[in-house]
Amino acid sequence: MHILFIGDVVGSMGRDMIKEYVPKLKDKYRPQLTIINGENAAGGKGITEKIYRGFLEVGAQAVTLGNHTWDNREIFEFIDNAKYLVRPANFSENNPGKGMVFVKINDVEVAVINLQGRTFMNPSDDPFVKADELIAEAKKRTDIIFVDFHGEATSEKQAMGWYLDGRVTAVIGTHTHVQTADNRILPQGTAFMADVGMTGPYDGILGMERSAVINRFLTNLPTRFEPPKTGRATLSACLIEVDKKTGKAKKINRILINDDHPFFS
Ligand SMILES: [Fe+2]
Repeated sequence: MHILFIGDVVGSMGRDMIKEYVPKLKDKYRPQLTIINGENAAGGKGITEKIYRGFLEVGAQAVTLGNHTWDNREIFEFIDNAKYLVRPANFSENNPGKGMVFVKINDVEVAVINLQGRTFMNPSDDPFVKADELIAEAKKRTDIIFVDFHGEATSEKQAMGWYLDGRVTAVIGTHTHVQTADNRILPQGTAFMADVGMTGPYDGILGMERSAVINRFLTNLPTRFEPPKTGRATLSACLIEVDKKTGKAKKINRILINDDHPFFS
């Protein structure tokens, strides 16, 4: 089976890329499972119910989040009813929502887990301990386990990849918005990539209006970052081939679509 994972969708331009390319990517790669990280989908920060539903309508079966989970306050109204919305599992125990969901695909189930790093990030519980806990729970139902590890530090992401090697199908990083070229299968069969990259404005800085970001560097003054609404766009993703009997990954390929890396159907 194949899992298509699309990285951090930023603002309306990111959402437009999802609408345009998810059907094309599905045609081309025929993934049985499509997962989207949507934590920047609403104006760069958070997600709304309409956006979440839009992702499911275009063919995603699970939507993961990250450090901006709570930034759009609408989330508190729908997260507990959003069956396939996954927020970092190592947030405080009393937070709404859930950190792992199960998606049923024909005769198999896939566990989708979201975790957040602790290096250069806001405080959270230990993602390594939480991973152990969730994997033990998931293994009662399935060996196919996908982990979106939302983190800043490449070292922490590599550590998680190696820590979970052989126990999960994939550990894929999100959050830094720049696709890394380290996609590989670790020795015990876990697909790894430090960061899948982002989907949205191609000529911004990490998806935000670049003049505001440059201005922050020039002045150190508080500046509001927003994603541009027009211009060129990019889509970042990866495709993982999975042995559905063992849950081990066989192959992981990078996908990048933009003017420098045109899409060929
Ligand atoms: Fe993030």
